[in-house]
Amino acid sequence: MIRKCLFPVAGYGTRFLPATKSMPKEMLPIVNKPLVQYGVEESIEAGLKQIALVTGRGKRAIADHFDISFELENQIAGTSKESYLTSIRKVLSEGTFMMTRQREMKGLGHAILTGESLVGNEAFGVILSDDLCVNPGEDGVMAQMVKLYNQFRCSIVAIQEVPMENIEKYGVIAGDDMGGGLYRVKDMVEKPKAEDAPSNLAVIGRYILTPDIFDILRDTPPGKNGEIQLTDALMTQAQNGCVLAYKFQGRRFDCGSVPGFIEATNYVYENIYQDGQG
Ligand code: G1P
Repeated sequence: MIRKCLFPVAGYGTRFLPATKSMPKEMLPIVNKPLVQYGVEESIEAGLKQIALVTGRGKRAIADHFDISFELENQIAGTSKESYLTSIRKVLSEGTFMMTRQREMKGLGHAILTGESLVGNEAFGVILSDDLCVNPGEDGVMAQMVKLYNQFRCSIVAIQEVPMENIEKYGVIAGDDMGGGLYRVKDMVEKPKAEDAPSNLAVIGRYILTPDIFDILRDTPPGKNGEIQLTDALMTQAQNGCVLAYKFQGRRFDCGSVPGFIEATNYVYENIYQDGQG
């Protein structure tokens, strides 16, 4: 059974400066809820209730968000405003939170490896909270992936088709189509140029990883942009055993870009947000 989900939340959020100068990008709100809380809710919904945050300098607001604000609770107890705390209270009552700091920014693979001490020797989820995924009324993306993991017991990456002009922003896979939106990964490349991309199937920020990924990451040399790439480690795992790629059900918004962030905001405001509810 998968119990833990790792959240790499140490990145800088340069594209949202100056908003992210002293505030973590993961705390930017989509309407009234910080991005990272959407990810944590998706994780808890999938049964992954132990949340492992790989944070960094300047990210204390995230740790504070997943703690009680005693003054706030005290101030609004018994008033109608309590309804605004509904979702965060639920998260706090169901989830447990662990944290470690990534001291140097050496890539997503390095962030995952930094989380090893929190995860230990068990399979775990990874959520990149920049990617907001929704599937209203149905299983979230992580819950869909957990079901597949319970069946196949190997690492799984979530994928979606993207236009070729955007492919160089992503890890890209090629594989054997197993039906039902599943592929057995044969090739995986981090941020290729369109002409070098093995397909238009882009990896988005949802993974389930088996714990042998840590040893592989330790032996993975820096790749694209001089960073330790999770994509390269997954390619090794695919060659040695099995990695699956899954075309998920639902919608995904790239909240690491301004247009994606605005699109997500409009979507959540129109379809999910309820006035007076936190
Ligand atoms: C990371 C991964 C990339 C993946 C993407 C999904 O890139 O390295 O393989 O496709 O997340 O959002 P980043 O967007 O952090 O540069």
